Amino acid sequence: MELRLRVQTGFAWLFATVFVPCCAVTLSAPSALADVTSIFRPLSTPAQAVYEISLLTLAICAAIFLVVGGLLAYTIIRFRRRPGDERREPPQVYGSNQIELAWTVVPILIVFVLILATARTIYDVQGAILPADTLNVTVVGHQWWWEINYPKLGIMTANELHVPVSESDRRRPTRLRLESADVAHSFWVPQLAGKTDVIPNRRNSMWIEPIQPGTYVGNCAEYCGLQHARMLLRVIVHAPADFEKWVAAQQSPPVEDAQARAGRDLFFATSCINCHAIKTTTANGKFGPDLTHLMSRETLGSGVITNTEENLRSWVRDPQHIKPGALMPNMQFTDDELNQVVAYLLSLR
Ligand code: CUA
Repeated sequence: MELRLRVQTGFAWLFATVFVPCCAVTLSAPSALADVTSIFRPLSTPAQAVYEISLLTLAICAAIFLVVGGLLAYTIIRFRRRPGDERREPPQVYGSNQIELAWTVVPILIVFVLILATARTIYDVQGAILPADTLNVTVVGHQWWWEINYPKLGIMTANELHVPVSESDRRRPTRLRLESADVAHSFWVPQLAGKTDVIPNRRNSMWIEPIQPGTYVGNCAEYCGLQHARMLLRVIVHAPADFEKWVAAQQSPPVEDAQARAGRDLFFATSCINCHAIKTTTANGKFGPDLTHLMSRETLGSGVITNTEENLRSWVRDPQHIKPGALMPNMQFTDDELNQVVAYLLSLR
């Protein structure tokens, strides 16, 4: 096959297999993503701002895509190979000031518009003045889980951020202070706000203002090592009264369960307490999640498995089997010891 013909066939193929499907996917993406977490379904003030700017950016990019793709398609069809072309040389063109100016100036203007619009959104979100009674939460990224601390409420938990919902007559945003215990992470719950990096030796800040109760899933959005993909987080948004109930439950001391006595003794006799804290006890380790109300959480291992008795037993027996590389070692418990420790952990409601 002649080279020119091959190039033309190549372009036609590219057009059919890339350009057309890309258009279809772009147009259908927002509806197809309706069931999963998505920046196209914002339910919080900062996420709404991100959504609006992303629509503008997508619209501009789609216009560029259509113009470039359209010109390409036009050229392929209009200047396709015709019988009798073999002996003719195409006209030889050496530059055009108008065209070169157009493809230099227009992109600069487009980029400028995008920069200005983005800067305004960033300023609006970061410069927002929040009500005086805004809930303050410190989130610390660890390899590979999230420490969640409510300093004023005296609550320490992990991997599940509980916040109140904002209602039309009362705004209840939450300000998050983001810190890292080790490497760079990134806090991202797409329906609530944009990503914010979590950087060692630095305190970043962001805020969320959910307007609908429910569970919002997110994840670490910065590669942070072996289990980066399993550093999930959930934000549970409560109606005001439910939030007060959650706070009261978390502030209560751990339940003393006589049935779990043996497991408790074993727990406090092993190195578990070097890494985990349980309020009002001598366990005050800071390397792993606080366990005071472990069983109030939905998942184990930062979203890796649901928090059931069976999964808890598997996790304590060998965390490395479920989450290779996690810092929690296999404690080499015998089956009896395992049952006792799990019975104790189950009592931490
Ligand atoms: Cu933490 Cu990726």
